[in-house]
Amino acid sequence: MTDDDSDLAGFEQFSDGTGGETESSDAADSQSDDTASVADGGTDTAGATDDTLGGNDRFDDYGDGPTQTTTSADELGSVFVSGGLRIAEDGDETQIQASITPGNRESVRLGRYLIVPFPDGEELFARITALEYAQEFQTDDATVLTTRRRLESGDGFDERDYKFLAELEPGAVLFSESGELRRRMVDRVPKPGATVREATDADQIKTGLDIPTEGVFLGHLSVGGETVKTATEPPTVDYRLDDADEAGDPLVFRHTLVAGGTGSGKTHAAKNVLRQYVGRRYETDDGRDAQTAVVVFDPQDEYAQLHDDNPALDAAQARRLDREGVAYGGHDDTVALIPQEQGVSYPGEGHRAEQVPFTIPFSVVDDYDMPWLIAGASLNDNQYGALNLLLNRFFRNYNPGTYDQFLSFLDDPALREELDERGRVHEATFDAVTRRVRSIPRGVFDQDARSITELDTTLVRPGGVTVVPTYHLSTSRAKEMFVLAVATILVDDKLSNAPNSSRIAETPLVLGMDEAHNFLTDADTVQARKVVDTFTEAAKQGRKERLGLFLITQDPQDVADPVFKQVNTRLVLNLGDEDAIDSVNIPPALASKVPYMETGQMVVYSPDNSEPVELTGLPVCVTRHGE
Ligand SMILES: Nc1ncnc2c1ncn2[C@@H]1O[C@H](COP(=O)(O)OP(=O)(O)OP(=O)(O)O)[C@@H](O)[C@H]1O
Ligand SMILES: [Mg+2]
Repeated sequence: MTDDDSDLAGFEQFSDGTGGETESSDAADSQSDDTASVADGGTDTAGATDDTLGGNDRFDDYGDGPTQTTTSADELGSVFVSGGLRIAEDGDETQIQASITPGNRESVRLGRYLIVPFPDGEELFARITALEYAQEFQTDDATVLTTRRRLESGDGFDERDYKFLAELEPGAVLFSESGELRRRMVDRVPKPGATVREATDADQIKTGLDIPTEGVFLGHLSVGGETVKTATEPPTVDYRLDDADEAGDPLVFRHTLVAGGTGSGKTHAAKNVLRQYVGRRYETDDGRDAQTAVVVFDPQDEYAQLHDDNPALDAAQARRLDREGVAYGGHDDTVALIPQEQGVSYPGEGHRAEQVPFTIPFSVVDDYDMPWLIAGASLNDNQYGALNLLLNRFFRNYNPGTYDQFLSFLDDPALREELDERGRVHEATFDAVTRRVRSIPRGVFDQDARSITELDTTLVRPGGVTVVPTYHLSTSRAKEMFVLAVATILVDDKLSNAPNSSRIAETPLVLGMDEAHNFLTDADTVQARKVVDTFTEAAKQGRKERLGLFLITQDPQDVADPVFKQVNTRLVLNLGDEDAIDSVNIPPALASKVPYMETGQMVVYSPDNSEPVELTGLPVCVTRHGE
């Protein structure tokens, strides 16, 4: 708030004319030569657009100042020409500078969005990429001495002795067509001396940054950690992710990553975004219109709270969310699907969602072709081949076949001998495999609960949210087995030509996975390779099959690259680790901000949605989060 006030104070000062006028007339004087040459050279090539005012004599227009609705209130300064004023096809050669009036110098910040009007009503949308003081007059010893004396006597230095220049990176030319604001590539250079003002119109900012007006709400546009204030109502710029079927595939099915360090606000943000997807409808591959299901793997027992209202969300906040078209409130159709492990129980105290226990039948290893599920980390390719052979032999004789039966099957000395004698599996290999299979957690398969394969219509419900909590499970290996088994069933049925569950196959699915680095690691093991292959394939086909991965992680550098490459939308919250920042692969201008993000702040890189931007997430969770 205080900062706002000081911003406004700055604007007022300027509109009072204290120094502002001196500045702009200075600029006009010192630049008149340059200006004339621009006009003479006829460099204004904007004739390409239909709505230019016409007439070649733009010089007069320029003299009158901008034709737009500019008010002096947000004028920051004017386009400065002495240091060079050019736009070029090669962005590196582009140079646009603005001279900032003394009254605005304190408040102007890197990254802010600016508008520079062209005389014909078009506007340049730009961003501040550098700020610098430059000598107004040629320095000599005398001026340096004067300045020093002033500073020493406590008078401070006089802003008017210096230029204060902002480097602008042009983003787009804004123009209106049939009453609608549009953007195009920057193809014209602003006039020397043209007014530069802060962008305060939500429509202009959204158009300038190419932010869709409709779609899934992610947060409010911000710069340097401060929410961008507009003169419009609401006074913020909502950032939305295109979710329409018309403009290509909805971005959710081109996958999302939420990355951020511990406590950066990942889960808060992820819940807020996932809540927006609940109940959305998408056109499927076969032309149906279907409601999406949301399934979330939940390592900290936090997502089943999607079922409950957030008591901290008050009526005023609710009204604001309503006005902005942001979904909020607990979702009744939320089910916690509880992995049953022998000897452990699920406390389930943090939420009021219905709890449905399930078990993984050992037969999924065969039905969904996932021998790796019992291979663990350290089988080599030879041993993995042997495991496959043993499983095939086992499932030929046992239907459905339990884990305990498989262990007894392996205990048969006659089998071991036979395979060795026939040269199929060496005894040492047989023993190694048996040891591995025995070493997985005992109480995972075939427990006293309904089978996940029979619960497919509970697991995936159009319009419903299913949460699979794993916090209560005994070991990380048990957690991994449950998550990978259920995730693989979902992915497999979603992509298969002959799915075991038509419900899974037919329902658009948003698949959330918190702490994804634990499951989609780039580790060099048979299991990791198979899992990564499966998910890479899932990610590739997800667009078509309506399967969207929503990965959440504090260690993005540990997520396997092939999966990562398929992710289109990246939400990056605070990350301190350099490797982690490098791994999320976002433009340098965004990456440099990441270590300074405060809780709930993020940068969004979704190249098919908008220009890269910085956002502030909603300060409240739209459903319950925490105690
Ligand atoms: N945008 C926000 N505004 C205000 N508070 C927030 C915001 N985002 C998160 N918080 C708060 O910060 C705390 C940490 O958030 P959260 O649990 O989402 O972090 P996390 O990154 O998931 O942490 P962990 O690494 O422990 O999983 C919570 O108390 C949460 O309510
Ligand atoms: Mg979390």
